[in-house]
Amino acid sequence: MTRILHRRIGATPPVAVEGRGIELFDAAGKAYIDASGGAAVSCLGHGHPEVIAALHRQLDRLAYAHTAFFTSEAAEELADLLIEDAPAGLSHVYLVSGGSEAIESALKMARQYFVEQGEPQRRHIIARRQSYHGNTLGALAAGGNEWRRARFKPLLIETHHIDPCYAYRLQREGESDETYAARAAGQLEDKIRQLGSDQVIAFVAETVVGATAGAVPPVADYLKRIRAICDRYGVLLILDEVMCGSGRTGTFYACEQDGVVPDLVALAKGLGGGYQPLGAVLLSPQIFDAFANGSGFFQHGHTYAGHPMAAAAGLATQKIIRQDNLLANVVAMGDELEQRLLERLGNHHHVGDIRGRGLFRGVEMVADRSTKRTFDPELKLNARIKAEAMARGLMVYPMGGTVDGRFGDHVLLAPPFIVDRADISRIVERLGDAIDAAIASIPAPARVEG
Ligand SMILES: Cc1ncc(COP(=O)(O)O)c(C=O)c1O
Repeated sequence: MTRILHRRIGATPPVAVEGRGIELFDAAGKAYIDASGGAAVSCLGHGHPEVIAALHRQLDRLAYAHTAFFTSEAAEELADLLIEDAPAGLSHVYLVSGGSEAIESALKMARQYFVEQGEPQRRHIIARRQSYHGNTLGALAAGGNEWRRARFKPLLIETHHIDPCYAYRLQREGESDETYAARAAGQLEDKIRQLGSDQVIAFVAETVVGATAGAVPPVADYLKRIRAICDRYGVLLILDEVMCGSGRTGTFYACEQDGVVPDLVALAKGLGGGYQPLGAVLLSPQIFDAFANGSGFFQHGHTYAGHPMAAAAGLATQKIIRQDNLLANVVAMGDELEQRLLERLGNHHHVGDIRGRGLFRGVEMVADRSTKRTFDPELKLNARIKAEAMARGLMVYPMGGTVDGRFGDHVLLAPPFIVDRADISRIVERLGDAIDAAIASIPAPARVEG
């Protein structure tokens, strides 16, 4: 009997005992292709010898030093490297232990910025429906996934939500990308005006929406419009690149492809590649200077912030990505993955949309392609796909509630950056079979036969 409160009580998962390359192995010796990098984490795959060697070196010299007393070589070097690659307009790094901590920190930085600036009345956070920013209370309050929020609502700070930029569901028939981008971004302006333009702290969004909607990129110049609206009203733009950043979409910062620079950007997951828990917030010089010229500090902190082992893992992971030119592989294999998904699932009766960027792809499932009707959530199609995939030795990241927190199912793919063509073939083959088997397990009246 397990003493762990697992994610699902009564469903103890297999015991993972080893990881090599793109595969994980359980205690029974079964191999699983990690086509989701866990949750878009393991960007270098598993057991990378250079990361392991870097961690050994760090551990031999220094495991831990509290940031109230010391900085560390690994943390300083990682920060230098992140800023070196960052779009102009981001100048400093705040290291934490994961994505939720990064978002909590970014929200508090944004609030403190306005306090330092003499605008303490600013108190509103605007985010988007169907977003996920983490499970701690501030991050959960910012997030827009109703299912995740509902149970904890009485504990959440007040936040406001606009629609996501979700072309498959929300772009009108015949509407151009430009018109849709303007309409979707316009909701932010309306919301800021409604709340009072001097009352809003920040707008928070995932550059490419991950877990809750399945790799949904913005259309056309949506983010440029969002940036312009934020500037017009002096509202800070916080981009959450915890899942889509750190190279996952083919550029280190996903927002590089949208031509925008946020005031704050949150990273985690692929930053440390899963070798240690690591997150970061990058901030603009404007925010840094407000702290430096004001109270002289950011009023926050965690015991494990800037942990030398985590920083060493991040530094080694990021150096390898650059040294092996892996972002070029993310782009090439991302295109390959898209092609193979389109070939295998593009005409599938129950696949409504295939989308994403780089090695960050989503497949949205529908009961009926013509009406985009979703499957009955009670059928738990996403859980069926996950089980069928695991049975076939494939890890993917299916989720329900794609459309509104309750309806809809999708599968998220985020394989390691080291995949090759043969790996992509095996992933798509197994995923196609898993989807077919999951659909076949659903009683016929619940789906449209083709
Ligand atoms: C976009 C995004 N933000 C924040 C988080 C929270 O990160 P963590 O689980 O490391 O706290 C996640 C996790 O999935 C995420 O996808």
